[in-house]
Amino acid sequence: MCGIIGYIGSRNAIPILINGLKKLEYRGYDSAGISFLTGSQLGVRRCAGKIRELEGFIQKEKLKSTIGVGHTRWATHGKPSEENAHPHRAGGIVVVHNGIIENYFELREGMKKEGHRFTSETDTEVICHLILTYTQKGLSLEEATKEALKHLEGAYALGIMSEAEPDRILAVKNDSPLVVGLGEGEHFIASDIPAFLKYTRDVMILENGDIASVSRSGVSVWNMHAGKKVNRKVEQITWSPAMAEKAGFRHFMLKEIFEQPRAIADTIRGRISLEQGDVNLSEFSLKGGDLKKLNKIYLVACGTSWHAALVGKYMIEDMVRVPCDVDIASEFRYRKPIIPKGSLMIVITQSGETADTLAAQREARRLGARVLTICNVVGSTSSREADGVFYTHSGPEIGVASTKAFTTQLTALYIFSVALARARGRLGASEAQDLFHELLQLPEKVKAALECNDAVKKIARKYCRVRDFLYLGRGINYPIALEGALKLKEISYIHAEGYPAGEMKHGPIALIDNNMPVLAVAPDDNVLEKILSNMEEVKSRGGTLIAVANEGNTKVATRATDAVYMPRTNYYLTPVIMSIPIHLLAYHIAVLRKCNVDQPRNLAKSVTVE
Ligand code: F6R
Repeated sequence: MCGIIGYIGSRNAIPILINGLKKLEYRGYDSAGISFLTGSQLGVRRCAGKIRELEGFIQKEKLKSTIGVGHTRWATHGKPSEENAHPHRAGGIVVVHNGIIENYFELREGMKKEGHRFTSETDTEVICHLILTYTQKGLSLEEATKEALKHLEGAYALGIMSEAEPDRILAVKNDSPLVVGLGEGEHFIASDIPAFLKYTRDVMILENGDIASVSRSGVSVWNMHAGKKVNRKVEQITWSPAMAEKAGFRHFMLKEIFEQPRAIADTIRGRISLEQGDVNLSEFSLKGGDLKKLNKIYLVACGTSWHAALVGKYMIEDMVRVPCDVDIASEFRYRKPIIPKGSLMIVITQSGETADTLAAQREARRLGARVLTICNVVGSTSSREADGVFYTHSGPEIGVASTKAFTTQLTALYIFSVALARARGRLGASEAQDLFHELLQLPEKVKAALECNDAVKKIARKYCRVRDFLYLGRGINYPIALEGALKLKEISYIHAEGYPAGEMKHGPIALIDNNMPVLAVAPDDNVLEKILSNMEEVKSRGGTLIAVANEGNTKVATRATDAVYMPRTNYYLTPVIMSIPIHLLAYHIAVLRKCNVDQPRNLAKSVTVE
């Protein structure tokens, strides 16, 4: 998830681009850059680091231009560095890009053979070279772009400029957001409205396949799928600038919860081959041979990422039949772990900078294990020190409470489990294809699950004043009970505990009275009957039950005082779907209690000290 801005008009574009980038910094902040035209001469300025670094770097030059594009990056391909920062350039063409080009590697190798020289590790650079190839054949910028797009697979929003056509910016949208802002004799393009809200409230939302040619005098849109010019509606934005930054959501946490369909789709993108029922292992730097030799797996993480690790154990042991140990990172390093030959440690970390997780990772390597990190931040310490990396591509997570990072970690664990099971002959191609079919439906199912928001808000109103909360789950959804309790504690300051439901009778059931709501995570799985009996135990002791279940489950409905119903998916993916109401409930309760949802007391987004 990166941020794009573009301006064409009569004012100096440079401060407008820098201002816009600052508003988009929440979309990515590992490097930034701008490109501008002076006459028909392209200039590019880029650097690693935040926008203020770029601003400081260009300030001395007193640059002036009336047309330019800018970019703030959140790395997906290639570490954060000046060479990998956007805009990228080939000849007289510059491109800024948000998204992932799945087939960039093949395209790049092909073009290298034709003599193209690449200077970055990014997927974006191939786009400039492709467009350049077609302009060199005599096509206009727009025609060359149309030809280039025919080669691209994946998701992208692009801003494109050319020295040969210094009076236009092209804006291209395919599965990544891009909007056009319309002013008087000036126009803007951006990944998100706040980038230009200071200058105009008239916005044209582009649709997939749109190529908008943006000049000072107007905007015309061609749609690749329709094969013709199209008209797009112009809308008036009434949001305040603060609301716009969060895309109209009240908090980053809620925005990030609602981003999950996109985040999960990006995590899946380019990783699986449905036709062959195989996983693309190239970026893990772990070969099929390595995977065959594994005889023990350690899953290590902290907090919410540790909950993902617990789910991972169910997935891996069930699909792959390799024994897994799950450790809290701060415990692993001091427990003198025995690491047999052929061990793999899977580290799970959103930030890649959590001190305890890094210490466990280093300890495991010292003891001879190989390390795969499932991480959201490209170039983070964990990713640099690991033998292999599985990036989750969920985009920057600003809210302290992890939501989209968690469900993308689960998605990554699912894909990795299939890879492992395939490499070890535990799954045939057709079984893997069935698992992939379900996976590919996950973004849509998460979207459908998010429709429970109003129902969850109602439940939150009813229970937001309680002092204690209990969450129950079993099997692969037991970690989701832990996750529900952690989220409630950290953002609403209500005391909450997560328990495996079968353990109730060994102690916690003594706590049950009508002052403590009990939430049961009860999807239709192999332990449904068991958790239904546990719910009976609570009910018969006067407890108040809230259930999170699957659509049409009448057995749960008759036992629970309140329930929300979720779409069905396969056993391994139920934790992703069940997390949706769990996170929303914590969010709404915290809002009703007037808590600082995005920055809860005593907590930091990244815990870099022991
Ligand atoms: C809770 C939360 C934390 C993190 C934990 C690990 O909502 O966000 O518990 O999960 O601090 O952080 P990472 O995943 O960055 O290592």
